[in-house]
Amino acid sequence: MYKNLKDILKQQFVIVLGLQWGDEGKGKIVDLLSAYVDVVARFQGGANAGHTIKIGNDIIKLHLIPSGIMRPNITCVLGNGMVINPPKFFTEMKMLKKYVKNLSPERILISHAAHLITPAEIALDNAKETARGKKKIGTTGQGIGPAYVEKSNRTGLRMEIMFDHDQAADLVAEHIQATNKILKAVYGLSPLPVKETAKQFKNYAKNLKLYIKNTSDYLLDVLKDGRKVLAEGAQGALLDVDHGTYPYVTSSNTTIGGVFTGLGIPPQKNSVTIGVVKSFCTRVGAGPFPTKITGELAEKLRGSGKNQDDEYGTTTGRPRDVGYLDLVLLKRVIEQNGVDVLAVTKFDFLTRLKEIKICTDHRFNFLQDEGLIPFNMANLDEYTPVYPYPYITIDQNTNINGLRKFSDAPTWLKKYWELIEGQVGKPIIIGSVGPERGQNIKI
Ligand code: IMP
Ligand code: MG
Repeated sequence: MYKNLKDILKQQFVIVLGLQWGDEGKGKIVDLLSAYVDVVARFQGGANAGHTIKIGNDIIKLHLIPSGIMRPNITCVLGNGMVINPPKFFTEMKMLKKYVKNLSPERILISHAAHLITPAEIALDNAKETARGKKKIGTTGQGIGPAYVEKSNRTGLRMEIMFDHDQAADLVAEHIQATNKILKAVYGLSPLPVKETAKQFKNYAKNLKLYIKNTSDYLLDVLKDGRKVLAEGAQGALLDVDHGTYPYVTSSNTTIGGVFTGLGIPPQKNSVTIGVVKSFCTRVGAGPFPTKITGELAEKLRGSGKNQDDEYGTTTGRPRDVGYLDLVLLKRVIEQNGVDVLAVTKFDFLTRLKEIKICTDHRFNFLQDEGLIPFNMANLDEYTPVYPYPYITIDQNTNINGLRKFSDAPTWLKKYWELIEGQVGKPIIIGSVGPERGQNIKI
């Protein structure tokens, strides 16, 4: 259906979704695709995300601001589906000053309907995790869960309160006081400072005000004008609050529906959905992971942390669990999200192993059934992955960082690539072979 990348990116609306447990390399892919669009918009999540872009010797880690910011002509939108912690936003803006000339409110738009994260949500996130004991979710501690709880509970604070800094201070004070009651009564914790926090938010409000817009209206206008928009997902499909490995998930809809509620626009006719997949699997935090590997092999694949792209959390620094690619789960999320094409990342990491397995089936109680997935994906750990034999042997002497054409790829890589395409029935349009902006095989 699609001949090449240009052909795909003729579409006016480009959706980029992570198809695993986050950290698929969306930052790099969005940065790459931003060269073809006018606006990049985040639709969910908050500073739990960590999107990394490497340009020359510079490594840029973004948590809130869309990964399109590194391209000069892109407007960035932080959509209504997001939950935003103002000091994190300002820290990110300050960090970006070194790389980006224009960080003005013309270029960065924050939805008035996005929810605010204050010290209250962060304290609740940590208190809840401690109270769960062994059943910890392993959250990033950024206050994400409580912020979405308050949104649904209609007790949250929205960005629009920041238009008036005195009002913001009053509402934040009230909010902290209410949370202090919970912290004391439910968790036996000491109160958060009320006045000090209110004062901080008063200052944030003064600095944020100009950035706050009705971003739904803005995006509708942009689309009407025929300009191009890229929707940037955070986390991944298996961390979706409805369709992921609940309760070991994040608290937002990371999947296709989240795009439209999180931006306030309807599905578009001229649209393409690009799924970002790591060539193996990783997961950070608790929850099932059928293809997880441990021991020496896992250490090799994860790396020591010396390389910036080794498998350690961008936001938390935690070592990630690593494992083989799970095509059963991948097929499910491709269907659920209507993914058209794939961008597969970190092919270069595969040379860390002598041979690589790919899971094509799950077995349960000795039953093997194509595509077997439990109702509740939290029970996935009771399923045994099936790896067809022979495994793919990797020539560890090949450095593929310099690879740009599929036809030049070593046999093992071609085999691996074609196995994925064959099994899931979708073409790979970008294969990332290194952390740098240009280190890709593109169709
Ligand atoms: P929360 O989003 O901080 O509430 O964390 C819930 C779960 O999602 C935990 O397992 C986190 O490790 C995971 N998580 C949240 N954000 C990311 C991300 O950007 N990449 C990978 N895992 C994430
Ligand atoms: Mg990440």
